[in-house]
This record gives sequence, structure tokens and C-alpha cells, in this order.
Amino acid sequence: MKWLSNRYAYPMVIFVIIVSIALQIAWLNQLFKAQRVQVKRDLEGVVGQAAEMSTYLSLVPGHERSVNFRNFFLSSEWLQFKQAYNNMRFNRIGSRFRSQVEGDSTFVDISLRIPNGKPPSHTRGRILHFDSNTTMAQEKDSDRVDFHRMDSLVQMRLAQIGADEKATYAVYSYDDKKLFDGTSRKNIKNAAFTSQQYSYNLRFLGMYQLIVPSVNRLVLYRMRYYLVSSSLMLIFTVAVFVFILRLMRNQRLYAQARIAFTSNMTHELKTPVATVSLALETIMESELENDPRVLREYLEISRGELKRLNLMIDKVLNLEHFDNSQMKLRTELFDVQQGLNQVISSMRLQLQNSGAQLKFLPMALPCFVGGDPVHLTNVFYNLIENALKYGGDGVRLEIFCICNPNEVTISFRDSGPGIDSSYHQRIFERFFRIPSATADIHNVKGTGLGLNYVKQIVEKHGGHIKLESEKGKGSNFIIYLPAVS
Ligand SMILES: Nc1ncnc2c1ncn2[C@@H]1O[C@H](COP(=O)(O)OP(=O)(O)OP(=O)(O)O)[C@@H](O)[C@H]1O
Ligand SMILES: [Mg+2]
Repeated sequence: MKWLSNRYAYPMVIFVIIVSIALQIAWLNQLFKAQRVQVKRDLEGVVGQAAEMSTYLSLVPGHERSVNFRNFFLSSEWLQFKQAYNNMRFNRIGSRFRSQVEGDSTFVDISLRIPNGKPPSHTRGRILHFDSNTTMAQEKDSDRVDFHRMDSLVQMRLAQIGADEKATYAVYSYDDKKLFDGTSRKNIKNAAFTSQQYSYNLRFLGMYQLIVPSVNRLVLYRMRYYLVSSSLMLIFTVAVFVFILRLMRNQRLYAQARIAFTSNMTHELKTPVATVSLALETIMESELENDPRVLREYLEISRGELKRLNLMIDKVLNLEHFDNSQMKLRTELFDVQQGLNQVISSMRLQLQNSGAQLKFLPMALPCFVGGDPVHLTNVFYNLIENALKYGGDGVRLEIFCICNPNEVTISFRDSGPGIDSSYHQRIFERFFRIPSATADIHNVKGTGLGLNYVKQIVEKHGGHIKLESEKGKGSNFIIYLPAVS
């Protein structure tokens, strides 16, 4: 995939993410619209069913045991018949309903009065006859009871379909369609859903209408699984892309660091070889065996350079070991303070040469950890060496050791140039060196392996390392190791 260079990767990923988000939004929007229609249909069904049941319950007293009565007044054919009557409501149609039990049967008597021709405009009201000779006031009272039953049936069914919206109602006069009870006209106008008007008994005094101010919550509730899965999909897509981009970036940086390491290393390896060759040549050509003092000096130089070369080779070999996970610790009881003292005294010359001021106040009691003495002293050496290398002449270095029953804390604080917080993570990466002002050419020699080695060793001992530093304010590397008490 050579064509997929880094230059195209970022725009492509952003493009794919934007397209995915846009597609998800478009799809969810379509779904939202469809669900809205469905919710409204369901709400209409709720009122329709409540009206059927309410009408039946208003007729049933006295006929509760008759299955046929129930089947008839809940049948769709009867409901259609009733609907036909409802639809003629403004044409002064009258009705009469009577039912009574005689012997083993129920006699139901429904009669309709359909006026012939257009009724005179001054004619008001309908002719209503009922089972018994009741007054209009009594009819209105019974109608109230039926109405409340209708409303409770609606509320109950709304709760069943999960619509706990603040639903309300409006009641219209059967005759002239005028609103006479319930919510205001303004609320009806602004409502997201208004049902059709339904009669809820055969008295035909009022018509019930359900008003739902907003259906969005119910629609979103029904879409919850789609919303969650879409969000998860988007999150996963973005996460995967971020992961891949990071991986690509890391690989690129790693490749760059490796190139820098190789050129650094070549230089570092060549220098001692060249120095030693030169020293040997000088010894041979200048016949220095006659001048033991100078000869010794040259041999010392050669020995020092070979030692450095050896250290460098060790470092690279350690790297191989880490890569193959072959490295095994030789753990024993190790007094951290004693180890620090050893390292400091072995570095006395270096400390003197750089004019560093080192402060280390060991505590009276030993500070034991279970650790590999060789690797742990290497760790201390690396951290002190870094402070000297990067702190410049006259750097102040303070080493503290705090021994708690569970944990040993060792802090290496220097007054050097400090490390910008943007490098705090990367400083422990293999080959990483803080870029100096002059690009890849570092003023101080190094391979970028030291801190990576330190981190790996500390972690292999079950501990961790923390860096506290700000640019221009010195650095503090703190190591935490599990204590042995
Ligand atoms: N005490 C410190 N103060 C300022 N910068 C530091 C300090 N210690 C490390 N650094 C920065 O962190 C980088 C990585 O350090 P690390 O010890 O891993 O590598 P190195 O010193 O360059 O090479 P090596 O230790 O392998 O010879 C260094 O190049 C340096 O820029
Ligand atoms: Mg170093």
C-alpha cells in the first residue's frame, strides 16, 4: 500500500469519519421520522381501543354475563356502524338505545331518527331517548362517569406503551363540535399529537380527544437501541482510526529514531576504534617503548576507549535481550542505599570533571528491595549520568531515598535544563532523544536507550518510574520499588 502514504492517511481517515457520521445521522433521521409516524399511529390506536372499551362498559351493566352481548358490542362491525352514526353528527340525527333482559335473551333496541331534508336553521338539539325516563341532568352525570372511565382507560394504555408524556385531553360537544372541557385551544394547536374525536358511550353528549404536547421523548426511547448501537459504532470506528494513526505515527517516529540511532552508533563505535588505532600507530611509529610514561598514557587512553566500546556493545546486546524477552533477573536482597553509594563512588571522577555538586544523605537503616544488583546499579548509573550529561557544568544533583514498609522511593533531582511536558511520555521510548536546536545533531552524545532500559528494569522489578519536570526548572526522576521488610 505504497500509495497510502502518511500524507493521504489523515485526510482519508477524516473523510471516512465524516462520511460515517453523516450516514449515521441521515439514517437515524429517517428512522426518527418513521418512528414518529408509528408512535402517532399507536397513540391513535390507544384512544380508539379505549373508546371501544368505554362504550362497551357503559352498556354492559345488567348484561355482564352475556358473552354474545360482549362479542357484539366489541365487534368491528358494530364499531363501524357506530362510526357511521358519529360521522353524521352534525345532521341532527337522533338515536335511541334500549336494552333489557327477557327470559334467556337480551333485547337490544336501537333506533335512529334521520331527518328528511334540510332541518330549519333554528332547530337545535337532537331527540334523545334512553332506557329509562331520565332527565338531562342525570344523563350528564352518567356521561361524566363514562368520561372519567374513558380517560383512565386512555392513561392506563398510554402507560402500557411507555408513553409517560404529559398527555391531556379535550372534550367537544357532540352537537356543535365546540370545545367545552379539558385543555386550552392554544395547547391543542401546539401539540405534537392530537387524536381524532371519539364518542365513549351511546349518550352522544361529548367527544373525547387525546392531546400529547410532545412525542419526541417516546420516539427517542423507542430508538434507544439504534441510538446506542450507532454511537458505539461511531466510537469504535473513531477509536480504531485513532489507534491506527497512532500506530502509523509511532512507526514513522520509530523508523526515524532508528536511523538517527544507527548514525549516532556508527559515529560512537568508530570514534573509539579510530582513537585506539591512532594510539597503537603512534606507539609503533614513535617507538614509545623507550618512553614508558607516554606509552602508559597512550595505553590508558586505549583502555578507556575500549571500555567505552564495551559498554556500548553491552547496551546494544541488552537491547537484543529485551527484544527476545530472554532477560532474567538475578534477584537477591539488595540495599538500595548501598547500591547508590557504590555507583556514586565509582562516578567520583566524572562528578569532579563536570564540577557537579551531589547531595546524597542516606538514612541510618538499610533499605531493602528484592532486586538484581547489576541492573539496579545500572539504573542508578544511567540516571546520574543523564543528570551530569544534560545538566551542564556545575549541575546540582540531589538523591533522596525514602524507605516505607511497602515501598522504596528513590528520587534523582537535578538543576539541569528540565524536560518539556510534551516529552514526558516519549522520553522513555527506545531511541528517543529530545531534538536539539540543530535538528538531529545532539550536543551531547547518546543512543536514546538509557531511560528505556531504566524503565524496563524498574518495571521488571514490579515498580514504576515517574518524571516531574518543566522546561528550565530541572528534572526529578522518581523510582518506586516494592520494599522487602
Ligand atoms: N536529567 C535530564 N535532564 C534533561 N534531559 C534529559 C535528562 N535525562 C534525559 N534527558 C533527555 O532524554 C533523552 C533520552 O535519555 P536517555 O538516557 O534515554 O538517552 P541518552 O542519554 O540520549 O542516551 P544513552 O543514555 O543511551 O547514552 C536524552 O537525549 C535527553 O534529551
Ligand atoms: Mg542517558
